[in-house]
Amino acid sequence: MSVSHKSVGFQARKSTAGVAGGKPDAEHPVGEPLARVDGPLKVRGKARFAAEFALENLTYAALSYSTIAKGRIASINADEAKAAPGVLLVLTHENVSRLSPPPLFPEGAAGSTLPVMQDASIHWNGEPVALVIAESQEQADRAARLIRVTYEPEIAAIEFETVRAKAKAPKNILGEPTCIAIGDAEAALAQAPVRIDNIYRTPRHNHCAIELHALTAAWEGDALTVHDSTQMVHLTQKTLAKVFGVAEQKVRVLAPFVGGAFGNKSIWNHQILAIAAARMVGRPVRLVLSREGVFRETGGRTLTEQRVALGANADGTLAALIHTGIAGMTAHNDCPEQFTFPARHLYAAQTFLLSQKVAELNIVANTFMRAPGEAVGTFALECAMDELAEALNLDPIELRRLLEPDKDPVSGLPFSQRSLIEAYRRGAERFGWQNRSPVPGARSEGEWLIGQGVATATYPYHRFPGGVAKIRLSADGQATVQMGVHEMGMGTATVQAQYAAELLALPVECVTFEYGDSSLPSGVVAGGSCQSASIIAAVNAACEALFDELLKLVGHKSPLTGLIRTDVEAYRGGIRHRRDTDRFQSYVAILNQAGKDVLECEAPASEPSEAKRYSMHSYGAQFCEVRVNTVTGETRVSRWLASFDTGRILNARTAASQFRGGIIMGIGLALTEETFFDERTGRIMNPSLAEYHVPVHLDVPQIEVMWNGSPDPQSPYGVRGIGEIGITGAGAAIANAIYNATGRRIRELPITLDRLL
Ligand code: MOS
Repeated sequence: MSVSHKSVGFQARKSTAGVAGGKPDAEHPVGEPLARVDGPLKVRGKARFAAEFALENLTYAALSYSTIAKGRIASINADEAKAAPGVLLVLTHENVSRLSPPPLFPEGAAGSTLPVMQDASIHWNGEPVALVIAESQEQADRAARLIRVTYEPEIAAIEFETVRAKAKAPKNILGEPTCIAIGDAEAALAQAPVRIDNIYRTPRHNHCAIELHALTAAWEGDALTVHDSTQMVHLTQKTLAKVFGVAEQKVRVLAPFVGGAFGNKSIWNHQILAIAAARMVGRPVRLVLSREGVFRETGGRTLTEQRVALGANADGTLAALIHTGIAGMTAHNDCPEQFTFPARHLYAAQTFLLSQKVAELNIVANTFMRAPGEAVGTFALECAMDELAEALNLDPIELRRLLEPDKDPVSGLPFSQRSLIEAYRRGAERFGWQNRSPVPGARSEGEWLIGQGVATATYPYHRFPGGVAKIRLSADGQATVQMGVHEMGMGTATVQAQYAAELLALPVECVTFEYGDSSLPSGVVAGGSCQSASIIAAVNAACEALFDELLKLVGHKSPLTGLIRTDVEAYRGGIRHRRDTDRFQSYVAILNQAGKDVLECEAPASEPSEAKRYSMHSYGAQFCEVRVNTVTGETRVSRWLASFDTGRILNARTAASQFRGGIIMGIGLALTEETFFDERTGRIMNPSLAEYHVPVHLDVPQIEVMWNGSPDPQSPYGVRGIGEIGITGAGAAIANAIYNATGRRIRELPITLDRLL
């Protein structure tokens, strides 16, 4: 199957197998379904992850965790642990060195600004109270269990019902206003002829990346090298330098391969403690968190309680759009779970009230998790839209058509590009939406009720500042692009090699993308679905610098002599005149003629100002079919089709995989995932994959994804983010399908069978 990157028409891609059959277009590699460049290394076990660096003299670490949520350590008895075989050190607040508190994202990489183990105080149930270093992992694990801690507990804020009354508005939400009020939405709601006004609840979630959080760290004098499983090498470097009081240049952080990261592969206590311990024992250390450790010590998605109230006029237009609510948070982080953000951009309404609060809890600092805010915010908003459509006796897609704004409804900015209704139209056609009965419970097969649902997916466009790229062109015709960014399984290295190949007009095999190392030019965090646009902007700048240099190098006897940048373009491994196309010289010839083996150019990305001038978002329409068992209450997702409008697609295969991955997490969010939190003790009760249920193969139907690929005219090379949008709208699509199947509106996630019986 051939897939043209230039196509702006929708192309449905049925399966990875279908996509994988594509024959690469050598001239224009962008968009091609190129197989992952890191694939062979991974399937052969040759890709080394953070815990796989076998340093000489390596030691192994294990953590022990607090069992109270708030209070003080009264005593620690580590005698037995210290005497256990192989134990080299037991690190506690009594012997740890002075460490500066880690700076919070985005100044640093930390999920919390709390000082790490600097005194006897305890801030959450699960906080590390000791770290053991031993000669083997087994010895460290055993000794960690021999540490006896007694506590002086204090009353902790762990019951949501208690703290919600004291919820307050944060100063801002990720730099945006906490409250948006346009007109008197409550009054408009009260007068509206059709009203929906409900509370939606979403629980805590935990990240369950396949690769556990891990690091291997070694000090040499005051120089520190850390192999860390992180989505932010430069911020990790900066944070560790600050915490340990060394110069940034003395800290090197490497993360060439990361086995999944959905927002919390950042700095938590474990890296800081392991690195402090390595300095004390004078040997390198490896620490791999147990799965339990990931739940106890690294943050997840917080719980939310959301109100969505929609007041509609008789014609279906919105008189009032209200989305408010509360999320749990700690006093020492800044992740208020921006669930009101989708309602700021999706629908036209005469009045708005969009505001959210946080309730402070003594918990591990909650943090970003795939589409923080939007994942759970679209659950509430898009369920409410479905409820309104029914109240108006309108098809839910027709309702979205009626409410489609012509500019950003809150900021008034023009949309950079938005084809949401078109995405709905194409998706509906392919899914066969017209065959769906709007009457709940109308379709069944034996004991299974069958229903279909739809919801909008949306995620903002982000391009983060500070990125710098370097391009190295060598006389053997190879190019290397370098930037300290990340490959966590999404295809960064592959798509960026494709992009640079297109930009330089080189075969993609001649381009290598180097990343995942803080010694490379400054990258950006792999978060907020920002990497592709952020990298491309920096690579564009480096390419401009490279072309300027090449044109200076050509000298007096070149077909390109006297030409300036605007006269020329990249063409087949070199440069040619745009109009007088016979005037061509290859990069190799230019370098050879100049007697140079390599030419290197580095440049920073342009300031990311586009999102200040335009309302920039990715969109999609999620269609699903569910079957609900009338005897057991079990829900199976039987069909899925997602139709995206997410800017230009760089690689059909890796993009489809990103979309599907997000949707699969959305199935988990809707049906199975919940971190059980004991409100008496503040303890997470299911810190394992046996009891925290992520979707497995049998839970996932064939997921068909399609996209329009329309380039965004305001973003570098027309790309917007695609990493997170898949999870947005997915929860609501399932809840709406369950309603269509059963007539039951479940407004609390996850929709487990007990809620359906
Ligand atoms: Mo994503 S939650 O920005 O890694």
